[in-house]
Amino acid sequence: MKRIRYGIVGTGGMGSGHARTMQRVDECQLAAVCDIQPNVAEEVGEEYNVPYFTDYHDLIDLDSVDAIIVATPHYFHPEVAIYAMERGKPVISEKPIAVTVSAADAMVEAAERTGTPFAVMHQRRSEPVWQAAHKIVSEGRLGELYRTMMVYADFRSQAYYNSAGWRATWAGEGGGVLINQSPHSIDLYTWLGGLPSRVTAVTATRGHVIEVEDVASAMLEYPNGALGYMYCCTNEAPSTDILELSGERAKLQVIGNQLRLWEIPRGVRGFSDSSTEMWTRPEVREVPVELPECEHGHIAIIRNMARHMLYDEPLIAPGVEGRNTVEMINATILSGRTGKPVSVPVDRPAYDAFLAELQATSNYGKKATGPDLRITDNVHH
Ligand SMILES: NC(=O)c1ccc[n+]([C@@H]2O[C@H](COP(=O)([O-])OP(=O)(O)OC[C@H]3O[C@@H](n4cnc5c(N)ncnc54)[C@H](O)[C@@H]3O)[C@@H](O)[C@H]2O)c1
Repeated sequence: MKRIRYGIVGTGGMGSGHARTMQRVDECQLAAVCDIQPNVAEEVGEEYNVPYFTDYHDLIDLDSVDAIIVATPHYFHPEVAIYAMERGKPVISEKPIAVTVSAADAMVEAAERTGTPFAVMHQRRSEPVWQAAHKIVSEGRLGELYRTMMVYADFRSQAYYNSAGWRATWAGEGGGVLINQSPHSIDLYTWLGGLPSRVTAVTATRGHVIEVEDVASAMLEYPNGALGYMYCCTNEAPSTDILELSGERAKLQVIGNQLRLWEIPRGVRGFSDSSTEMWTRPEVREVPVELPECEHGHIAIIRNMARHMLYDEPLIAPGVEGRNTVEMINATILSGRTGKPVSVPVDRPAYDAFLAELQATSNYGKKATGPDLRITDNVHH
């Protein structure tokens, strides 16, 4: 069987994790690695006996590399991905694909112009519960949506934030909980519920000594008039992970990895309009949902891109959809900082100018936090 030869750019916590994961995938092999830190590139290159580089151009230009995984800090994802796509090399970008919607646009444009496959490491889509939830929504079983809700409340220690110079800085990372810890939940939220047309948010830094937000609360308005609510933070224990969509014909709820679905045979509005009783409510019935058996986690996305290239298997997480997450992140950060509602799609030049001001105040490069640790979390594999 032909195997796709991956090059990994950025072999810190996540990139070295992908190198390890790849060893269990028949459809691919690790061909080369790159990290801007020579000792980091060398260590991973020697471990897997593959060429290693400190400049991503050298890795991407290799004839022996078919596809690229970008696992650098977020700001570098667009430039590395676009360079690869312009050379016809398919890309899996780590999440978020970019820090700004304008940079995400440039990635999507490069993928479309060059016809190069482009995916985002939103691996939670591959989990059985989310595959099942997405199928229900795609089949139109919820009817018109009336309300959406997502809460991702998690915990990070101050030591986590201190573990690398780029983390939790405007110039090194471009945001806080919204841009680093929440993108998987925001991806699932927009994958199922779509994008709102307006976001009104409050963001704050409550539990850590960092320059970016560690809590965000947003009211959402959708094009059809539906309303939504999103809350993300790194200040809570135990974790809460909830997504709820309420529609005319059904309500879907995912708490952790438990999915529940209630159908409303006569519909909410349909029942209200047709019932003549004063004190009544529509009949609802909970229906069991069978979860598919499927491989999930990073391995599923790595295998999926290889199988996409070999056998045309549809992408689980197309890169173009990664832009929706960035749209939500930018809208929420902008609204939270300005105290004003923000329309979606976000005004690209306005966001770039706003972020440039925050970058100018950033402590990036001046954090006295010791050596970067490059240890990724062990939750989503
Ligand atoms: N999908 C997931 O579940 C998941 C989990 C963790 C991290 N991530 C994402 O992975 C990315 C990296 O996070 P991490 O935790 O591995 O960070 P990390 O700091 O451990 O690793 C980043 C590495 O990139 C290297 N680097 C920086 N600039 C570079 C450049 N221009 N060229 C080549 N190498 C460069 C650094 O030296 C470092 O070794 C982030 O975008 C993060 O959001 C995704």
